[in-house]
Amino acid sequence: MSADNGPILITGAAGVVGSNAVKQLVAQGVPVAAADAVASPSVLLRGVESVPYHRLDIRDFALLMEVIQKTKPSVIIHLAALVGEWYNEHPHGNHEVNVGGTINVFEAARLSGVSRVVFASTWSFYPQFRGTKHGYPTYEPVPEDTPPHPVRPYEISKYTIERYAYWYRQLHGLEFAALRFGAYYAAERRVQAGGRSVGAINDLLLAVGQGQPYRVKEGGDQGFDAVYVKDCAGAAVAAALAKATPSGSYNIGNGRAVNLHDVAAVVRELVPGAVMEIGPGLLPAKHNCALDITRARTELGYEPKYLLREGIADWLKEYRRLDEVLRG
Ligand SMILES: NC(=O)c1ccc[n+]([C@@H]2O[C@H](COP(=O)([O-])OP(=O)(O)OC[C@H]3O[C@@H](n4cnc5c(N)ncnc54)[C@H](O)[C@@H]3O)[C@@H](O)[C@H]2O)c1
Repeated sequence: MSADNGPILITGAAGVVGSNAVKQLVAQGVPVAAADAVASPSVLLRGVESVPYHRLDIRDFALLMEVIQKTKPSVIIHLAALVGEWYNEHPHGNHEVNVGGTINVFEAARLSGVSRVVFASTWSFYPQFRGTKHGYPTYEPVPEDTPPHPVRPYEISKYTIERYAYWYRQLHGLEFAALRFGAYYAAERRVQAGGRSVGAINDLLLAVGQGQPYRVKEGGDQGFDAVYVKDCAGAAVAAALAKATPSGSYNIGNGRAVNLHDVAAVVRELVPGAVMEIGPGLLPAKHNCALDITRARTELGYEPKYLLREGIADWLKEYRRLDEVLRG
């Protein structure tokens, strides 16, 4: 498989992962088309204005077909989704966009001869590992064939679309790669945070970026697989360009567990004087584990480029760059 026959169309291109995927494809000289529900390319697409942009609501099948007919993609990287805790509390929109919209993408892809859909899934439908070899303190990496246990609407929607993808492959031969991202961190999250939590590692880094103290009473010993946004985007690009994606579902992380104390230790080195007070203990969230990334390495050629230190250093650089862009 290659992108020789047409551009790679990215849905959710104005978002955090999507904008990074657009930039990486442009840097590699691969033709790309961007689509998103926002009226015009977001601030995150600054610097890649030459990429054709299409306004698209993935719930609108006719419009999706129109965009695909215009752009004639060889592969679709489908990242458009509704994310965030609010959609767990109000699941209808989550279902309509994350499940219904994704079925539209599969259907439009197979009707238009698109060979492969790469899409974002999640590690968060893995079960609670506490008390097992995959939990604290050993964190043996979790493989993809671990029985899933989706509980919240977001997890249910991501697991559901994976099952639909297997069905589309069986019925229509549509290739796919479902990327089960770990706990991703990105400076671009600042654009979306608006006072709400965007995950422990992002919350800590955003506080540091803003020169604010970061204080939490507990949870410092909780391990999680922290993956930098540029590695998530790199995985999407690798999956789009890979020869084949036979296994379908792929963990995308760093392959080891870190905790907030580890994050704080790196930040202290890079930002002397940063104030972080992190209490000990574990958190109730169930998806706290390390991901086994052997399959993505072997089949997609995925290799995380940003271990914690490199990722945090780049996060701080991107935060300052974004600061300048936002100040105009
Ligand atoms: N650990 C995880 O589970 C994890 C982590 C990161 C990202 N993800 C997934 O990766 C993908 C990208 O996430 P992100 O952080 O970049 O999110 P984001 O919110 O930054 O980007 C999503 C984009 O989708 C667009 N969108 C929303 N509804 C749409 C619709 N109906 N039609 C067209 N576009 C629409 C939004 O405008 C936005 O630009 C999502 O699918 C998300 O679920 C999962």
